[in-house]
Amino acid sequence: MSLPVAQRLQRIPPYPFREVAMLKKKLVAEGKHIYDFGIGDPDMPTPKFVIDALYQAAQDPTTHQYDESGYGIPEYKQAIADFAKTRFGVDVNPDEEIQSCIGSKEALAHIVWSYVDPGDVVLVPDPAYSVYKVQTMWCGGAAFPMPLDPQRGFLPDLEAIPLGARKQAKLMFLNYPNNPTGAVATREFLAEAVEFAHKWGLIICHDAAYCEVAYDGVEPASILEIDGAKEVAIEFHSFSKTFNMTGWRVGWAMGGKEIIDALSRTKSNVDSGTFMAIQRAGIAALSHYREWIPGLRAEYQKRRDALVEGLRSLGWPVEPPKATFYVWTPVPKGYNSIEFSKTLLEKTGVLTIAGSAYGDYGEGFVRWSLTIQAPDKLGTIQAAVEAIRQKLPLSW
Ligand SMILES: Cc1ncc(COP(=O)(O)O)c(C=O)c1O
Repeated sequence: MSLPVAQRLQRIPPYPFREVAMLKKKLVAEGKHIYDFGIGDPDMPTPKFVIDALYQAAQDPTTHQYDESGYGIPEYKQAIADFAKTRFGVDVNPDEEIQSCIGSKEALAHIVWSYVDPGDVVLVPDPAYSVYKVQTMWCGGAAFPMPLDPQRGFLPDLEAIPLGARKQAKLMFLNYPNNPTGAVATREFLAEAVEFAHKWGLIICHDAAYCEVAYDGVEPASILEIDGAKEVAIEFHSFSKTFNMTGWRVGWAMGGKEIIDALSRTKSNVDSGTFMAIQRAGIAALSHYREWIPGLRAEYQKRRDALVEGLRSLGWPVEPPKATFYVWTPVPKGYNSIEFSKTLLEKTGVLTIAGSAYGDYGEGFVRWSLTIQAPDKLGTIQAAVEAIRQKLPLSW
């Protein structure tokens, strides 16, 4: 029997990375060598101190049941509150202002389900991680794009949002450090966004999944550092990129009590919390943050510099990202982003993601991920650059 899937599922395009993964599989099966700069999934292992903590916690049968607190075990929330204080100088009440999450993706989806009714507007950056827009559509809302213009440092122009959209908007998504552009928000911009949210009565959902992957001494800010942010903002954090833990599915949301409560009510009707042994592993991760993070940043910075220098040696006008493990580059003359990423893949074996996969304003760019599955990371970057030099003449 073939039963049609729900209309909401029919309406959305396939998840972009599923298509890329399938194309890659096909080319590998045909014997092609692929230099994979596609999906952003850390290639380095989860640190031993996290694995050891999980091993130990998993021996304790009290971690095997439902986390009945719903919000996360008290020690986990306390560790997060301590981290928020030392990293951002922000006071977060562990009893009321933190929600454990099954990675940040889940919570980004559920915050939309918590607030958006049919006909509501959600302000969504473009280009952006697809979850914000797709979940808005699923709730019957309308995603209103906020273009991220390179001339503005990939920060949306809040003044350009029309009056109608401001009035109808319930949520505004922001994501800094930004996937796919690698941009970091200034504190001035975050302050402007908080003021805007107060004025127009909307909630800012700040996706800070890449907050710790930053370069050249940059320390990306939490939106909660801004005065008055807690009343209008919720921020999503994740262990995925900071500690190479994408498969573990663990993160947290922090923000004003009322917003956290709404998220929690939705989650309690959908999932049953994060495995308590993984929450304990999360505590171990945060307690090693200071020793761990310089090495992680240095590794990606080496890769970033190698890729940026290599592409520049081809005449490519590339700006190094300030954060994230993505490099966002313009496509050469004569191509749109899909044509270019396909040509690049077919002619040189270099796999990137077409910018238009992230929205209309991603057109004209491709994204390179610095997570590289091959054993020789810098060698792969150099080989990819040489393959382009030899096989695909480019003009700018
Ligand atoms: C911008 C952004 N936010 C959130 C996520 C989700 O991360 P996780 O669910 O692993 O915490 C990703 C994953 O790639 C992302 O790119």
